[in-house]
Amino acid sequence: MSFDRSIKIAPSILASDFANFGAEIEAVEAQGADWIHVDVMDGHFVPNITFGPETCKAIRPHIKGVMDVHLMIAPVDPYIEAFAASGADIITAHAEAGPHIHRTLQAIRGAGAKAGLALNPGTPVEAVDYLLDMVDLICVMTVNPGFGGQKFIQSQIAKVEALRAKIGDRPIHIEIDGGVTPVTAPLVAAAGADVLVAGSAVFGGGSVADPAPYGDNIRAIREAATAAQS
Ligand code: DX5
Ligand code: ZN
Repeated sequence: MSFDRSIKIAPSILASDFANFGAEIEAVEAQGADWIHVDVMDGHFVPNITFGPETCKAIRPHIKGVMDVHLMIAPVDPYIEAFAASGADIITAHAEAGPHIHRTLQAIRGAGAKAGLALNPGTPVEAVDYLLDMVDLICVMTVNPGFGGQKFIQSQIAKVEALRAKIGDRPIHIEIDGGVTPVTAPLVAAAGADVLVAGSAVFGGGSVADPAPYGDNIRAIREAATAAQS
């Protein structure tokens, strides 16, 4: 089977009810989510704290699809085994989390997960140059990591285009994280992205008790992006 570059929507549970992750995940998957995006923050690499591997393990049984764990932590390496053991399908580490991203990516694959590499908005696309054969996904941050609900940074569209050209035929997903809406999704889909993380734009207006808006939100992003995909 050829590599799947169709649009995948990955709601970020950062924008969901923290007291009710299991039900939120089940609701959003029932409403059409493809992947579940899990934002891990340490209050050191980014100025916010969320949760760790124990929470990932607790939510795993509620996820039918792909569990996409985004590590905004430094250091990363001491925690890779724990996140892999929690059931993460994809573990994404930041190029900026240092000091040895090459070793970190090796360790993620070594632990049995798919390896993702995230680039902050200020990091040049050339940061991926010696890592392309070690990654399954590259995440282009379209906000500075740490918080949901921030404004999409337009300058990152050119980075996505350059990244798409570098990737060529390699089986590497391009994921976009931050400020994705039905307005911004087509811009990055046209530039070559296939995985769209969305927090506020998916969870806004709905709830576990009233999940239909989740479905409307997911469809709106997917339709806008799919129409623009080259
Ligand atoms: C930001 C996180 C994102 C965040 C996106 O640091 O990595 O995944 O949840 O939230 P929105 O879609 O609201 O920008
Ligand atoms: Zn994220």
